[in-house]
Amino acid sequence: MVLTGAGISKDSGIPTFRGKDGWYKNTPPEKLATNEAFYSNPDLVWEWYNMRRKIILNASPNAAHYKIAEMEKKFPCFLLVTQNVDSLHKKAGSRKIVELHGNIFRTKCTECQRVFNEDYRIFKEDELPPRCSYCGGILRPDVVWYGESLNPEDLDKALSFAYRADLIIVIGTSGIVYPAAMLPHIVKSNGGIVVEINPENTPITEIADLKIKEGAKNALSQLKF
Ligand code: OAD
Repeated sequence: MVLTGAGISKDSGIPTFRGKDGWYKNTPPEKLATNEAFYSNPDLVWEWYNMRRKIILNASPNAAHYKIAEMEKKFPCFLLVTQNVDSLHKKAGSRKIVELHGNIFRTKCTECQRVFNEDYRIFKEDELPPRCSYCGGILRPDVVWYGESLNPEDLDKALSFAYRADLIIVIGTSGIVYPAAMLPHIVKSNGGIVVEINPENTPITEIADLKIKEGAKNALSQLKF
């Protein structure tokens, strides 16, 4: 099992959330990534997502994403759980994947709840907030915000896999956002091995059987299986 966070996409040029140049550097998450923030100023939140969409659309998967895509071909019992919304794992070829926090290129109508897949639009100022083509309701990015529940099927898939996993490789996450951060603890408490790849220490480091204190691209390019 592999769990990834924003650090794996840093080598592709996408900022992390909490790093010194991270997305939350100037604006805290509660101003950008909550239902309340969205309803009080949907244009501002959409501007943030537009900016992120632009950066992500210009980015490509790196060697770490490709190495994980290779793993699922090699190991019949494998699951990748990502907190990332950037689609780079899918672009690299991963199919056994749970996108626990949604996808930035999916939009959802706040009225009729219709979901629009592969929505790569960058909205102009006068198009904000974008509207549903069916009912005229305001569209939101189909990502999970603070205070919202994860998709129950996705969460169930990730949790039940963690209970059976004999190994989890945790890559590029600060390990502080739950329930994703629970997964290595579940693997560990069921006798599995925890490997962490991250240039910094995190709360996961304390339970890691092996800590590789390097960037994801560098560490995973050297991995042989
Ligand atoms: P964070 O920004 O919290 O953490 C990124 C982690 O990546 C840090 O621990 C860095 O040390 C590490 N890192 C930096 N460069 C790296 C590299 N080259 N290789 C490997 N690791 C590197 O991002 P997440 O843990 O993904 O949620 O954040 C979790 C969630 O918080 C996100 O999914 C998002 C955010 O709010 C939602 O939007 C719901």
